[in-house]
Amino acid sequence: MEREEFLSKLGIGALAVCMGTCMAACSKSGDATPSNNNTGGTTVNPPATGTSITADLSSSLTAIGDTKVSNGVIIVRIAAGNAASSFTAVQVACTHEGTAINYNNSQSLFICPLHGSIFSKTGAVVQGPATTALKQYTVAVSNNTLTVTT
Ligand code: FES
Repeated sequence: MEREEFLSKLGIGALAVCMGTCMAACSKSGDATPSNNNTGGTTVNPPATGTSITADLSSSLTAIGDTKVSNGVIIVRIAAGNAASSFTAVQVACTHEGTAINYNNSQSLFICPLHGSIFSKTGAVVQGPATTALKQYTVAVSNNTLTVTT
């Protein structure tokens, strides 16, 4: 009996092929380019430069911890009042593989649901596998209108 025939009868040949394929697909390599084949999270693209996002503060982002996701940016109210410093805005795409991050208000941290990367309110990496900070955007507030420009 030839080796290939022997492995085939054991089903090891197919297993070896599957392992190679699966391991390549499940890489935690820290790729800069988001893949679109993730499971366990929604993959998004970073916002285009020059995108302007607004929010009416009389009806949205009214409570600490409230979030608004728009055009690849997540805006969070982190303090009371309508000063620009009462908000933070970062890219919603995790820098690991592009999954949409969530804001955990009780911990004041952004958490990626796919592999568990954690980022501070300013987007700095607190825990990997991500190694690159989320891009933080400048927030401006005029009267009751918040504007974020990417
Ligand atoms: S996509 Fe892997 S930690 Fe976010």
